[in-house]
Amino acid sequence: MVNWPDVTGRAVKYNVHTNRFSKPVLGVESSCDETGVAVVARNRAGPGHVLLAHALYSQVALHADYGGVVPELASRDHVRKLLPLVRQTLDQAGLDLRELGGVAYTAGPGLVGALLVGAGAARALAWALEVPAIGVHHMEGHLLAPLLEDDPPAPPFVALLVSGGHSMLVAVHGIGDYQVLGDTLDDAAGEAFDKTAKLMGLPYPGGPALAAEAEHGDREAFRFARPMTDRPGLDFSFSGLKTQVLLAWNRSDQSEQTRADIAAGFEQAIVETLAIKCRRALESTGMTRLVIAGGVGANRRLRAALAETGAAQGFRVYFPRLEFCTDNGAMIALAGAIRLAAGQQEGPVIRVRPRWSLEDLDPVR
Ligand code: KG4
Ligand code: ZN
Repeated sequence: MVNWPDVTGRAVKYNVHTNRFSKPVLGVESSCDETGVAVVARNRAGPGHVLLAHALYSQVALHADYGGVVPELASRDHVRKLLPLVRQTLDQAGLDLRELGGVAYTAGPGLVGALLVGAGAARALAWALEVPAIGVHHMEGHLLAPLLEDDPPAPPFVALLVSGGHSMLVAVHGIGDYQVLGDTLDDAAGEAFDKTAKLMGLPYPGGPALAAEAEHGDREAFRFARPMTDRPGLDFSFSGLKTQVLLAWNRSDQSEQTRADIAAGFEQAIVETLAIKCRRALESTGMTRLVIAGGVGANRRLRAALAETGAAQGFRVYFPRLEFCTDNGAMIALAGAIRLAAGQQEGPVIRVRPRWSLEDLDPVR
């Protein structure tokens, strides 16, 4: 028996042999350049899930030389790392494979080869263990990640999903009941961070590198546009901002300080644009809770600005902890456990969906 912190914050004694918890669900994330594995169990006696263990292997070093993710290398590395990571996670949880009650994996959206590695391994495990499997939508995983924190948000809420591949505002009417209010017309927020960082010579991945530069820059020294905030609507467009930075950088003295100032001005433009759109989404839906998730949700300036706006405007803001903003197995295990508990499971065909709309998901009732 092991003591686990419950997701609601209390320390609980976790024992798979009691029926206080449902049988644990293994979650596998492999949609891009992180291999993530986690185990969660549902608390039958009260609300919430307990996170039993999680492990992450990041391929950042592998792709750094290329300045971005190389899909074939990503797939091969998932093949190498996934099963050792499953073993490590189960060891950490003190569980045997045979104690699992289900297996969840990211079925899309993402890189097709990378997705297939996770789906293949997860489905083989579920088949061998004779337990159900469920394919999880990666962005639903991000969106539900704050449910792993103390005092989790309850639907309805607005979710701002900002990652390397997506910038979206979603009205969450219930789990699985999603209405996309706004989407990206070109570069996603994380992609804009990555490309802007690259053009100023910062290393991959650009988001955290640019945010670190911005910390010692002057946010007022360069003023960039707040794209698409001067007209109604909730869509995003960040590619013009990148071009503005390129022009400013090429015309500048390209000193260390200038780079930090441009980084700070760029970060401020993104943060303000996102904050304006979040406010609009809350106003138009009449909702009072806002969830921020996805890799860019780890940006400290964004977290501080939205928390401030929320306090001033009377809405509550929820974030996952920093490590669960970027890709991880915990969010997939959680989303899968919720769907399996509702009786959903995959049919016999192993299918991944590199492109997949959140609005096509089945609601969980
Ligand atoms: O959610 P995620 O891990 O992967 C995708 O599903 O895409 O998001 C990765 C993205 C990258 O573009 C990365 O540069 C960005 O999130 N990111 C950040 C920060 N940390 C990660 N962007 C800005 N500030 C950060 N601190
Ligand atoms: Zn992601």
